[in-house]
Amino acid sequence: MNILILGGGGREHALAWAVKQNPKCDRLIVAPGNAGIAALAECADLDICDRAAVVDFAEQNSVDFVIIGPEAPLAAGVADRLRDARIAVFGPSAAAAQLEASKTFTKEICDACHAPTAGWARFTEVAAARAYVAVHGAPIVVKADGLAAGKGVVVAMDEATALTAIDDMLGGAFGEAGASVVIEEFMEGEEASFFVLCDGTNVLPIGTAQDHKRVGDGDTGPNTGGMGAYSPAPVMTDIVVEAALTQIVRPTMAEMARRGTPYQGVLYVGLMIADGQPRLVEYNVRFGDPECQALMMRLGAQAFDAMQACAEGRLAETQIHWANDHAMTVVMAAQGYPGSYTKGSAIRGLNHLPETSFEMMFHAGTAARDGQVVASGGRVLNATARGATLAEAQARAYALIDAVVWPDGFCRRDIGWRAL
Ligand code: AMP
Ligand code: GLY
Repeated sequence: MNILILGGGGREHALAWAVKQNPKCDRLIVAPGNAGIAALAECADLDICDRAAVVDFAEQNSVDFVIIGPEAPLAAGVADRLRDARIAVFGPSAAAAQLEASKTFTKEICDACHAPTAGWARFTEVAAARAYVAVHGAPIVVKADGLAAGKGVVVAMDEATALTAIDDMLGGAFGEAGASVVIEEFMEGEEASFFVLCDGTNVLPIGTAQDHKRVGDGDTGPNTGGMGAYSPAPVMTDIVVEAALTQIVRPTMAEMARRGTPYQGVLYVGLMIADGQPRLVEYNVRFGDPECQALMMRLGAQAFDAMQACAEGRLAETQIHWANDHAMTVVMAAQGYPGSYTKGSAIRGLNHLPETSFEMMFHAGTAARDGQVVASGGRVLNATARGATLAEAQARAYALIDAVVWPDGFCRRDIGWRAL
């Protein structure tokens, strides 16, 4: 098969690495890709949110199957147009991608199917939103309704912070995405992510993970896209997984189908677990980045079989074969991230790293320049490894990190501390 992956981060490098191992894969193209992906696939320059351009490219290259990595092309309806053109695609329709693109939409779905989540209200007017905060007090959570590149959520520990967030969001700081805000009850507990494939009807769990959002050791400092992750998440016991499936995931999928917008693709279920009971924090309509890197290392080649079964509505007959293993990914970022950072610094030592089914240095923001790999983004490299224990996976991941020579980069040294 000719397979096209859309995206160019560490998530897509991990997807490409897994897909490439599957014997069904003849030709692998990634658009736009990055310097690491270029070592195992053809990279193509393509505007991945341009529906017509993606369909044209797929037709010209006889692409049999498209995997969509990030949320932006999904929200833009790229999957819809590919399906219209009868090209198999892994990824939800724009209508189903509302589960990530609109907080209000997700909250309404939860209410309709009685999925446990934080109490909430929606506002478009500053005065009414402020009055709600005055009544409910802090801690309280203020969220821009639309896609805000991970920056549209303020967990306010005091009222003043909540009021400032309301003023900013409804004042236009996030443009259209902040034209309305959702104000939520603050949930306490331990967070974990649960990944499932859905084919419109059936649900197949493919793993759990926890990530580290804060930039500094000990989970301190500002939030980032994620500085590391590991799988499985110890808090996701069989009982919690079953509760999440029966109370949250399956009812949501049934409600989406009932509305005529069945969900097909991977669903990233962000949960808060307290007293053994999961509640929904958020849905994302894609793999987490960097959670995907740990999941792909555990799943390997079978990941593509599962994605294909998902696209073809065959999940009821599909099984995941688990090794009883653990995986971890540690992010190397450019100094200054998540604030301002410089691009273009050279990274050395990448050529001599082991590349096995137990350890891979996935690339996120890298580019090739004059025969060298240079940093081209905030999160740059993802050292990913697995082992019989999480400690073993961690040791392997940090051994990769320590073999890289990149003075302008940094990483957290404590990924996995909660589980270890
Ligand atoms: P979201 O983009 O909705 O995932 O929110 C980003 C982060 O904010 C989550 O991963 C949680 O850590 C936190 N968060 C969001 N909603 C809540 C909530 N209702 N209670 C507590 N923490 C929350
Ligand atoms: N690592 C969090 C996310 O992908 O949204």
